[in-house]
Amino acid sequence: MNTETSDTPTSPATPFEWIGGEARVRALVDRFYDLMDIEPGYRELREVHGNTLDDARDKLYWFLCGWLGGPPHYEDRFGHPRLRMRHMPFKIGILERDQWLACMDQAMGETAIPQDLRARLNESFFKTADWMRNQ
Ligand code: HEM
Repeated sequence: MNTETSDTPTSPATPFEWIGGEARVRALVDRFYDLMDIEPGYRELREVHGNTLDDARDKLYWFLCGWLGGPPHYEDRFGHPRLRMRHMPFKIGILERDQWLACMDQAMGETAIPQDLRARLNESFFKTADWMRNQ
């Protein structure tokens, strides 16, 4: 009989498991960039990005899998993320930071991320996004 409880669905070992694995991370990232593309409230954030969001979609997906405690797809391809350095070419002030966070929160809501996980991720995203500011 299996008496282990630490890895049951009710107590996932990592946020990656909690979210439900790769397909759910991909759905979140796809919704995030779809919203960035269509919502007028994220216009300045969209303008920081290039014509196509295809590269950004893949890279954020690969990155988040590892960042959430899942497979290190981003590091496998590109090595250490050095996120702050990689964001230096883009203007990131309070406005862009807040639009990024609002867009991600909306995407989490629309892809049915559990409320308590969503709250925890919002805190972590805030720290990372604020650290990326260069204006
Ligand atoms: C604070 C506001 C942010 C802005 C305005 C922003 C903007 C951008 C832009 C313009 C790119 C380049 C996309 C491309 O290659 O076409 C990018 C790449 C990326 N961003 Fe952000 N970002 C922000 C926050 C974040 C946060 C909070 C994370 C992680 C939690 C993140 C993760 C990434 C990753 C992994 C890449 C790919 C880096 C690479 O390999 O070149 N970004 N971001």
